[in-house]
Amino acid sequence: MRIYAAADYEEMSQRAASILAAHVITKPDAVLGLATGSTPIGTYDRLAAMHQKGMLDFSQVTTVNLDEYEGLSGEHPQSYRYFMNKHLFERINIPREHTFIPDGLAKNSAEECKRYTALLHSLKNIDIQLLGIGSNGHIGFNEPSDSFCRDTHVVMLAEQTRKNNSRFFSSPEEVPARAITMGIGNIMSAESILLLANGKNKSDALFAALFGPITPKVPASILQFHNNVTVAADEEALCAIREFTRWEGKIYDC
Ligand code: F6R
Repeated sequence: MRIYAAADYEEMSQRAASILAAHVITKPDAVLGLATGSTPIGTYDRLAAMHQKGMLDFSQVTTVNLDEYEGLSGEHPQSYRYFMNKHLFERINIPREHTFIPDGLAKNSAEECKRYTALLHSLKNIDIQLLGIGSNGHIGFNEPSDSFCRDTHVVMLAEQTRKNNSRFFSSPEEVPARAITMGIGNIMSAESILLLANGKNKSDALFAALFGPITPKVPASILQFHNNVTVAADEEALCAIREFTRWEGKIYDC
């Protein structure tokens, strides 16, 4: 695992965009696993800017997103489909049929989970999976639990997650109670993983994920078992790690 320290959100986003861009340049038909939330917005802005300058071609790229709220249509402004269209897909030349996100409006969510898992298997491998981290250590919507769930599944969102995400909705009650998420096995089967974290409220979760015991109570801790993980984090998110490791530089290999 390699950790890149970024002074701030801008530098973290630049680093992440460069890593993703390198994948698209070296493998024009790359499969990118994507995330939503506030963390990757700066990364998507930079990828869109590189595309607009003629530096990146997404015409052969395929994307698969981690998760979607159950019950929200792709037109709902808080749905993850809407988010991805707005922050990335509408700004680059990716054919819409190359972009995959679980269907929050599927009549039968269990069937939708099976369909999404089968889709992931049919794509063979995700070349790089972009991840944010919840302040409770979740990845995708794999919430702290007693066991790791392998495939795409329906989850009850943790109260903490609904509270954190209520900032995007007009009231906390509007945050859906359930979501469909890729499982830990799906995430771990990606060839490489790029985990981003910024802000003080991620510091404890990031430390627990990268230096704590591997446990489903901190779902991101499973990443310690993956052999190709890159972390880009700002100084605020690195605070607890800096204190524990006494590391002072820009790159930490562990
Ligand atoms: C979103 C996702 C979540 C977020 C996490 C952090 O697709 O999978 O795991 O990455 O909740 O969210 P932000 O970036 O809003 O702090």
